[in-house]
Amino acid sequence: MLPAEEDRLNIWLTRRSAGLRLLEKFALKLERLINLLVGDSRFNPLYYTGPLAAFLLLVVILTGLYLTLFFQFSFEAAYESVAKIEGQFIARVVRAIHRYASDAAVIVSLLHAFRLFFMGRFRGPRWLAWVSGVVMMVVLWLAGVTGYWLIWDQAAHLITLSFTNLLRQYTPFGASFAAGLLTAANTDRSWVVIALLLLAHILLAALLGLFFWFHIIRLNRPKFLPDRHWLIGLGAALLLVSIAAPAGLLPPANLSQLPGLVRLDPLFLFFLPATLNPSAGWLWGGLAVVVLAAGALPWLSFRRRQRPPRVAIDPARCTGCTHCALDCPYKAITMTLHANGSGPRQVAQVHPNLCVSCGLCVGSCDVNAISLGDDLSTEILGQALQTRLAQRRAVSGKFKVVFTCERHAVQGAYPYLSREAAGPMENGLEVIVIPLPCVAAAHPNLLGRAFEGGAEEVVVAGCPPDDCGQREGNLWMEERVTRKRPPRLKRAFEKAPISTMWLPPDAFPQAVLAAATSPAVGAGDQKEGAIFQGLTWRNLAPALVLLGLTLILPVWLNHTPFRPYPALANQAIVQVILPDPAEPFDFLIGRPPAEWVGWPTRLTLKVDGRVFWEKAYDPAEFFSGRSSPVFEELPLAPGEHYLRLSFEGGTIESLILTVRKVTLAPGQILVLGLPDTVNAPDEKLAPPPSKEAVLRSPGRR
Ligand code: HEM
Ligand code: SF4
Ligand code: SF4
Repeated sequence: MLPAEEDRLNIWLTRRSAGLRLLEKFALKLERLINLLVGDSRFNPLYYTGPLAAFLLLVVILTGLYLTLFFQFSFEAAYESVAKIEGQFIARVVRAIHRYASDAAVIVSLLHAFRLFFMGRFRGPRWLAWVSGVVMMVVLWLAGVTGYWLIWDQAAHLITLSFTNLLRQYTPFGASFAAGLLTAANTDRSWVVIALLLLAHILLAALLGLFFWFHIIRLNRPKFLPDRHWLIGLGAALLLVSIAAPAGLLPPANLSQLPGLVRLDPLFLFFLPATLNPSAGWLWGGLAVVVLAAGALPWLSFRRRQRPPRVAIDPARCTGCTHCALDCPYKAITMTLHANGSGPRQVAQVHPNLCVSCGLCVGSCDVNAISLGDDLSTEILGQALQTRLAQRRAVSGKFKVVFTCERHAVQGAYPYLSREAAGPMENGLEVIVIPLPCVAAAHPNLLGRAFEGGAEEVVVAGCPPDDCGQREGNLWMEERVTRKRPPRLKRAFEKAPISTMWLPPDAFPQAVLAAATSPAVGAGDQKEGAIFQGLTWRNLAPALVLLGLTLILPVWLNHTPFRPYPALANQAIVQVILPDPAEPFDFLIGRPPAEWVGWPTRLTLKVDGRVFWEKAYDPAEFFSGRSSPVFEELPLAPGEHYLRLSFEGGTIESLILTVRKVTLAPGQILVLGLPDTVNAPDEKLAPPPSKEAVLRSPGRR
């Protein structure tokens, strides 16, 4: 429990729900392992997940353009072009890069979304970035699925079967789709299917670009790409992994045979095992709920009563210096002309619909013209600080002041916020922690005032570079303290023990224990700045190895074995597909009921003389042309069979659609109901039995 505070400083502790703070706590424990490995939190790849995902998408698009040059249309030609790609070294490597970069993009984007989630960076004006991120994930997934579909191998066959099931389940088009596809496969029109798939694949990639634009449109100086060392490291890792582990090729799709054991990429094709079964509504329904809930998250406010504080700018004080407009990471401040007695002059204007209440602008204003809600302005902070320091001086001699942000305050700094817990530290100083929404909300003059107010040391403890909860707060504060950016720390304090430390929120105790004169934190008289200190291979090498390992995951996942239809391993499948079952009766459709009498309307499949499956139609519905399409999959023991698909049950005569004598192999798919061209050529056709009349459809009139 925090003690009651006389001042308003601790108000910033309550901005995120307890659940999110707990999630962050667990995530930080994992991140700590990576930080230990790389030895410096600046090299934790998790802090760069957004730009790394953008880089991976760029790689995917460029390699995709190259692969398109090889592509040919028709089912066989599409497969052949991929086989050709696999036969050439450069093309094979490019294909592997295309695949592994897509997989890595999924993993890295999910990590990126998770990190922003626990930091609570999805509410308010950030909704656009969040929702476009959710849409990008869906589009990325669809683009991946269409990519796998294009290859026209056994995985593509499974996607086809799964998509057909989806259509069967939720639309009346399942049978027509299957019929169209089978017809295309057996005529010279399969190029249309491949062309449509390629078009969808490319359009989805373009859509990804469009949503990426929405994703970053509200950000000032969005970081599109990670720093050069990450680009080179990840690029090299992708290249090496792609040379060592080609993507490979499954056998071609054979629509008359169920695929056997295949190796699939579950990152994109995770849905296959469940959706090859027509009753997979739970999966699609579950996915739809998850996506909708994720998209609605910005409005499912965890703390409805806690409205974010608003920024107010006092035009009378504003000098038009533009510092705040430049510093705002969210384009929420622009300079406008303001008329006053001495004529128009520039003043800052805030756009509340873009402002995320980060407080950075408060710290950038030299003239105290900006406030955030009722609790944050340089003036209020200064007074609160003075009160706190006066109280501390009264009870103890030596103390240090640590300015920190909301993330640190609810993690590592939390125990120090309680007065009872704030005993003398190792170096003999007591600690006063000043929590803010972001460290950059503090004007550098406040650091000087803390020093003047009796602090032995003043530390600014914020998040590591590229991990700032408000995007750029740590960078701005570092530049202000090192006098590289206005408002600058006064020259008078240049040699004072005022320092910055950029550490993960749970590593806050380090900021308390470290002496502010430690050169490692850019303190004292050498203010090079902790953020800007150079790279070392000691830190970079493990970070790059970690990235390389992240790529091993997609390679490993890509070879996940999957045996579809295990229950049907020793069975053949008979598919009865009739997009319009009443078609043979076209001559009766719409006729008066008296003319239907006696015509058979029970669709029946007989196997070896016995009724194997049947579907009865209500004549009124059937002859009015409203009969629903038929798509039925029936397992049958392999071997020789006599099959007869007909309409039965009338008093006039049977209407035979097909009669076949076939020898079915295990896993064979036999289609009944469509023109014979769609069946395997080795199928033996038997003449219809002479005792039954075979009605030929007179065709549509
Ligand atoms: C699909 C691939 C994705 C890419 C390439 C991507 C890339 C990026 C980049 C480059 C930034 C700007 C980083 C900065 O300059 O601060 C960003 C910000 C952001 N991303 Fe993503 N992102 C992706 C997916 C997602 C997803 C799935 C979500 C959440 C569902 C998400 C949520 C956000 C949010 C909320 C921000 C703004 C953060 C802030 O304003 O503080 N992104 N993303
Ligand atoms: S608080 Fe200030 S810096 Fe932050 S988004 Fe709002 S206007 Fe921009
Ligand atoms: S920083 Fe202050 S003085 Fe400068 S433009 Fe912004 S509000 Fe005006």
